[in-house]
Amino acid sequence: MARVGVLTGGGDCPGLNAVIRAIVRKAVGAHGYDVLGFRNGWAGVLEDDAVELDLDNTRGILPRGGTILGTSRTNPYALDGGGERARETLARREIDCLIPIGGEDTLGVARRLAEEGVAVVGVPKTIDNDLSGTDFTFGFQTAVQIATDAIDRLHTTAESHNRVIVVEVMGREAGWIATYSGMAGGADAILVPERPFDVDEVCERIRRRHLTGRTFSIVVAAEGAVPRGGDGPRASEQVDAFGHARLGGVAVELEHQIEERTGYETRMTILGHVQRGGTPTAYDRVLATRFGVAAVDAVAEEAFGEMVALHATEIERVPLADALAQSKLLDPRLYETAEVFFG
Ligand code: F6P
Repeated sequence: MARVGVLTGGGDCPGLNAVIRAIVRKAVGAHGYDVLGFRNGWAGVLEDDAVELDLDNTRGILPRGGTILGTSRTNPYALDGGGERARETLARREIDCLIPIGGEDTLGVARRLAEEGVAVVGVPKTIDNDLSGTDFTFGFQTAVQIATDAIDRLHTTAESHNRVIVVEVMGREAGWIATYSGMAGGADAILVPERPFDVDEVCERIRRRHLTGRTFSIVVAAEGAVPRGGDGPRASEQVDAFGHARLGGVAVELEHQIEERTGYETRMTILGHVQRGGTPTAYDRVLATRFGVAAVDAVAEEAFGEMVALHATEIERVPLADALAQSKLLDPRLYETAEVFFG
């Protein structure tokens, strides 16, 4: 092994730079490998747009949000001859193993390339925490902390104005961010995609709460939360190269519905990309660093087609195929614990 490629794909995520730094430190420092960073996810592989990474140009990036390599939602397999073009670049650049850092989409491309004979080792990334095979992904804890801080702030203004405030958080089709931040922030209701909601029930719960003397309520809604028997709103009609719709707007609908049904003044806040920006928490920096080092260990041991993963407190490896078999949805037991505090 002499030359390792790295890319970051999909939505950016706090901790990506920490992984890049760790990969370079271990690959260069311990093994003397060269490291080539492809810019803007799979787009950089298709366009052969890359930069040599070394100890100098990856110094000081540990706490920095975003990714120094840039990212995109480019899917080579959605383009004519894209898979072949990606393989050609990797061969021309003499990449012995590629380390894609990404979620199910980016790693799905990696798995296909692996099936076509490319040596890859995956690193799991997503604020949504919806990737199977790993207990947690880095970035999730940071997103939860940002959402929790926001909920804390919304609490004081909701209380001052005697209002209901609906807070919409990210998470795609999984309710992890909503449930963790809702629990940490003391939400009175948490709406998640895994449990379609009935707005009348939500209103009844708020009404009951207010009858006991409370004058405000906080509802945390995952962007993918859907009404029972219906569809949730979409932020756009367009889908990305992996077929994902742009979610967003459920809080807008809930604001109107709750105010209309309960008569309580209601406001909503959509946290959006604030949850993905800025510096990673200490936990995510450490997890990202451990993943980066473990990925280089996997490269050295030629554990190709695998993904590094967190199992309890240990970093282990799982086949990419297992990690991508299905999304990791919210643990119902966690939601049941959160429910104890509703209303
Ligand atoms: O997967 C991470 C994520 O932030 C989701 O929570 C969200 O639905 C999506 O990405 C937003 O994507 P974009 O940044 O392309 O709008």
